[in-house]
Amino acid sequence: MDETPTEHRPLDVLILAAGLGTRMRSDQAKVLHEVDGRPLISHVCRTAASLAPEKIYVVVGHQGDEVRKAVLNELDESEVTFVEQKAQLGTGDAVNSAREYLADRDSTLLILSGDVPLIRPETLAGLIRQHLSHRGRGAASTILTVKLKDPAGYGRIVRGDGGIFESIVEQKDANDEQREIREINAGIYCFDTKLLFSALEGVKNDNAQGEYYLTDVPTLLRHAGEPVAIYQHGDTQEIEGVNNRLQLSDIERLLRRRTIGRLMLDYGVTFVDPRTAYISEFARIGRDTVIYPNVTIEGETVIGDGCVIRSGTRITNSKIGSGVEILDHCVVTDSEIEGECKVGPFAHLRGHAVMRSGSKVGNFVELKKTDLGSGSKANHLAYLGDATIGEKSNIGAGTITCNYDGVNKHKTQIGSNVKIGSDTMLVAPVSVGDGASTGAGSVVTKDVEAGDLVVGIPARVRKG
Ligand code: UD1
Ligand code: MG
Repeated sequence: MDETPTEHRPLDVLILAAGLGTRMRSDQAKVLHEVDGRPLISHVCRTAASLAPEKIYVVVGHQGDEVRKAVLNELDESEVTFVEQKAQLGTGDAVNSAREYLADRDSTLLILSGDVPLIRPETLAGLIRQHLSHRGRGAASTILTVKLKDPAGYGRIVRGDGGIFESIVEQKDANDEQREIREINAGIYCFDTKLLFSALEGVKNDNAQGEYYLTDVPTLLRHAGEPVAIYQHGDTQEIEGVNNRLQLSDIERLLRRRTIGRLMLDYGVTFVDPRTAYISEFARIGRDTVIYPNVTIEGETVIGDGCVIRSGTRITNSKIGSGVEILDHCVVTDSEIEGECKVGPFAHLRGHAVMRSGSKVGNFVELKKTDLGSGSKANHLAYLGDATIGEKSNIGAGTITCNYDGVNKHKTQIGSNVKIGSDTMLVAPVSVGDGASTGAGSVVTKDVEAGDLVVGIPARVRKG
């Protein structure tokens, strides 16, 4: 045995992500398919990083460039090493592609599958702990397993006398008796890195799929007299793999249920119908907020306390204060809504729009990169783009900031306590001073002084 006590060895993680995923029937590599708006591989990378390993190795092959990009969206370049598997000859061959980086490492290697996205860091920590402490010296290999009601498709765990690990038999290679076994291989393992790479040399491809199976390694280690352990886990959902689109939708549902359950039980959020709410794992929602059916909340959205979000609304990467009411069918992207605002129905906020506290945006109003001041209102049918609007101003129905001259975007500045009459066209760049008004249908091409009333086309001053 090595001199280094196992518990002091560094931890490396290897993620298998080179396969095409034939059963997905897709032109896209399997690990790029999305769950909760992020590729499968991102979920696994984030979990891996939370274990603070020395290094994360990702085996790429099919659509390697896209997979690399997805990984680097999640991990820092310094945290990850990419390993290319030239031809997809099986999971054993995939691990073998990393030989030049890992074969001589005195480390513990945690192997994760890019298509098993729900596994939790706590579970992996338990697996690693048991691996390191097995019989006081650590195991050569520890396999994460669960017992499933329906084990179809997974590799089965064959145990011998006294429950000792014997082998992993793939579904396609299993006989009738072995197919009855309900304990399955999760595709997640810990290995003594050096022992793994020396055993890999003995893996052959004489099986139903003609592939080099990583699952043969534990048996080879056992035959070499090395200790192989099993870590049987209780939560069957965490280890569900994605091999086809039906399983992809199952995972989506499981993750959503996990997220919504946490929001209800730990954070006091009401879901009128949890089955039809789509909430990102990273969203934060405050106490006594009520979410109606068919609401989608994506990305790192934060929503305060006591809000009401009505049906058909989608909120992405936005910040919503407390006491906000968002009526049906609104789209809010990359924007901020402060406390006590009212939005919708049918409103569209995008491109860093900001609604200050107590402001109101009504039906068929679009705000793009616009700051709507506290207590101001745009109640109906307006386009407000690249504008700053002060406090307690009223934007009449049909108002448009004409911000684009065909080449450049220009700004509109509206002060506080302004009344913009219905159907006003504000031809930017233009400003309207505090307390000013525009008549219905006016086309404002020149700056309006504070307190003035302008009317007509083009708008002229009527009174000071
Ligand atoms: C694998 C296990 C099986 C286990 C199941 C758990 C093997 C032989 N079988 O089966 O025992 O129950 O996972 O989910 O390991 N990959 C590569 N290169 C390859 C082949 C695969 O990188 O040449 C990657 C895939 O992208 C995927 C992972 O390895 O992320 C698993 O491959 P997959 O084909 O899904 O294996 P399963 O049939 O699910
Ligand atoms: Mg799989």
